[in-house]
Amino acid sequence: MATRRVALITGANGGLGFGIACRLLDSIPTSVPLTIVLTARYLRKVMDTISKLRKYAPNRDLLSFDYVLLDLGSVTSVLEIAHQLKSRYTHIDYVFLNAGAGDFTGVDWTAAVVEVLSGPKDAVTHPRFKRERVGRLSSGDAIGWVFQVNVLANYILLRQLVDILRKGGRVILISSVEAEIANPFNKDDIQLIHSNQPYVDSKKELELLHTAISKKWQAEYGIDIYLTHPGICHTSIFAEYLNWFTTFGMLLLFYIARWLGSPWHVVSSYNGALAPVWAALKAIPEENKVWNVSYGSACDWKGTTYVKNDTLANDQDQKDAIIFLYELDSLTKTLLERSNQLEFE
Ligand SMILES: NC(=O)c1ccc[n+]([C@@H]2O[C@H](COP(=O)([O-])OP(=O)(O)OC[C@H]3O[C@@H](n4cnc5c(N)ncnc54)[C@H](OP(=O)(O)O)[C@@H]3O)[C@@H](O)[C@H]2O)c1
Repeated sequence: MATRRVALITGANGGLGFGIACRLLDSIPTSVPLTIVLTARYLRKVMDTISKLRKYAPNRDLLSFDYVLLDLGSVTSVLEIAHQLKSRYTHIDYVFLNAGAGDFTGVDWTAAVVEVLSGPKDAVTHPRFKRERVGRLSSGDAIGWVFQVNVLANYILLRQLVDILRKGGRVILISSVEAEIANPFNKDDIQLIHSNQPYVDSKKELELLHTAISKKWQAEYGIDIYLTHPGICHTSIFAEYLNWFTTFGMLLLFYIARWLGSPWHVVSSYNGALAPVWAALKAIPEENKVWNVSYGSACDWKGTTYVKNDTLANDQDQKDAIIFLYELDSLTKTLLERSNQLEFE
């Protein structure tokens, strides 16, 4: 019998994370024993997700589920789940670092109308009308919250999991096309506390992190870290600011953008999961290099999906990546020293 494969998906209870789980189930043959480890913040959500996935793949006898409860906004929670995973698994094959969040406050409707009228495709690819809160800190650690959830927690988790990812583990980072409109990197504000768009800037920082570590980790540990993004899909990440009417309008604009030639409006989270799952299962590191490329879920005007790759880091990004990693390592060291007093490695 084939060796059991283990896949960890953070934030699997909704949106893209659920799409990734479904695509994995559709892509890994039923004859291969598979364990999917899900993370969510709340027990009820993780249990609901497991039961939905069991219904999605009713005939997979060699499938099992496991879960850990994870709040990326807490260093203690990240260290705790790393500890649990290391005690349960000797090797993890695929880690999808999907969970992520923004601290949005709503829509600037005047700006939205102006942006849509002056360029509908760009308006729903690089929206500048989404309003983000400035300066939110995490309650326990007092770190820039969006930075902590989208960047720092993923880095700490990865560092803790190196031993069970060595020699063949594959890590899938989830960025966003919105990173293209990030503010210039600010080494004096890596926690994005003063940023006017911390979500967008955090995705750029994730790309800098990837630039800084992907080549090194592949050579030193045999871990392939792929940078992917899901294109643009309809999930709950911004849903609370839209009603049925504006949701309908947004979806209509997504299709218009697609017909106008946008490759990124894949719309469904199952389509959005294409590039992440392809990177985990199909990418060949010798041909599909890990460093300096992002792999996105794309589609043509008819909605036929494909994986589209783009060059990632220009010269400035490569310089910024070195500084960013240095600052991130210093912060991580401080936090781990503080946490050692809480008895975690
Ligand atoms: N939708 C898009 O078009 C799009 C485009 C580019 C990139 N992305 C990226 O795709 C990823 C998934 O987003 P989505 O669109 O699927 O949004 P979503 O439906 O809101 O899902 C986000 C997931 O992350 C979890 N999460 C949020 N905050 C968390 C925290 N503090 N600790 C642990 N888990 C947390 C959520 O759990 P709860 O249910 O508990 O909140 C949920 O499972 C994110 O990294 C996002 O940036 C999405």
